[in-house]
Amino acid sequence: MNISVIGSGYVGLVTGVCLADFGHHITLMDVDKEKIEKLKKGLSPIYEPGLEELMKKNKNIIEYTTSLNDAIKDVIFLCLPTPTKDNGEADTSYIFEVSEKLSKIIKDDVLIVVKSTVPVGTCKQLKGFFDKADIVSNPEFLREGNAIYDFMNPDRIVIGVENERSRKIMEKVYIKQKDKIIFMDLNSAEMTKYASNAFLALKISFINEVAQLCEKTGANINYVKKGVGSDKRIGEHFLSAGIGWGGSCFPKDTSALIKIGEKHGLDMKIIKAARKVNYNQRSFFVNKILNHYKDLNGKTLAVLGLAFKPNTDDMRDAPSIDIIRKLLKYNAKINAYDPAAINNAKKIFGDKVCFKESVYDAVKDVDGVIILTEWDEFVNMDLEKVKNLVKNRVIFDGRNCIKIEKDFIYYGIGLN
Ligand code: UGA
Repeated sequence: MNISVIGSGYVGLVTGVCLADFGHHITLMDVDKEKIEKLKKGLSPIYEPGLEELMKKNKNIIEYTTSLNDAIKDVIFLCLPTPTKDNGEADTSYIFEVSEKLSKIIKDDVLIVVKSTVPVGTCKQLKGFFDKADIVSNPEFLREGNAIYDFMNPDRIVIGVENERSRKIMEKVYIKQKDKIIFMDLNSAEMTKYASNAFLALKISFINEVAQLCEKTGANINYVKKGVGSDKRIGEHFLSAGIGWGGSCFPKDTSALIKIGEKHGLDMKIIKAARKVNYNQRSFFVNKILNHYKDLNGKTLAVLGLAFKPNTDDMRDAPSIDIIRKLLKYNAKINAYDPAAINNAKKIFGDKVCFKESVYDAVKDVDGVIILTEWDEFVNMDLEKVKNLVKNRVIFDGRNCIKIEKDFIYYGIGLN
């Protein structure tokens, strides 16, 4: 099939490149010329494991363009950003602008597939732009850092359609994964995306609240997680306690869901609480550090991990931002290292933070080590080496990701 993807961010790129791997001819379009030039050279503009390899493998059937006219194909995926507006709502202006432009140049019966996360009712509204084209809602469930794996091994593919024709075309698009498709109406598909992210976000907030209680009561969250998560009705995933969620998705989508509720006169109490618990988790962690040192003036701390999670360079709403800012406010000096996110972090912290080239560079002569992202590099670091490099042997593990039995004073989350 000839398929185009408008918007070559992480969702668009992964979608386009994976669909090419199914054998479709793909046109990836973006207004960002620099990005398209990079892509034409076979380079991925984002850090996503496996993406560049897949781009290379399918380079003969993927085209990159900045022209909307080139993107008029049988099926057009919209993978445009829907950032949070100042009032907390999702900003759908990119989707509407592009749809308006498309409506003027589309001649034949094409299928427009909305992959962006959009407020419930958006696809129905978009129908107003098109006489001939059908609209489909096909939300994405890709985790950054695992996006290729998630695309190729989906638990389900949610597709909102309005007619049989759309259904048949989408079955051809997902030719290799037909058995995973759950068809439904447009509004339900849009709602499924928000409800999924909100549920995952509140699952993490829930375990973080329990972790705080574990500390007070003498329980250990690692055992509790195992005991609770082994119940199939609950499940073990997204039950890791730590410094909470960040990134572009959970913060944005929980906020948008609260706004959707407001618009319909519903107070989304549970989602509001999940957000509150999440952002409080960052202060809770900083307080552990403050309680240890009493005074951070003149202390140097090594921060390992800046990205909001491992295997990405994404710093959007990363817990590290709030945590480092708080520590700086208390006059701590920060050495920071991350395997992928340093360039993005430099844009945020400038020269307020001293960026290092490796774990061992970062920990040299410090008063304490703080782990904020559970990169394998930190999980497997040579603790013997770290022990001999640091000034004070203290580790604050914001992800409960390393095992310390001796030599260090160790603080985790929800541990006793
Ligand atoms: C999330 C969803 O998992 C995807 O299904 C969805 O498609 C995507 O949002 C989106 O809407 O685009 P993502 O934000 O990439 O994916 O990352 P996750 O792996 O879900 O992690 C989110 C945050 O939760 C991270 O900060 C992570 O460190 C944190 N987390 C995750 C925990 O604190 N504990 C856990 O047990 C799991």
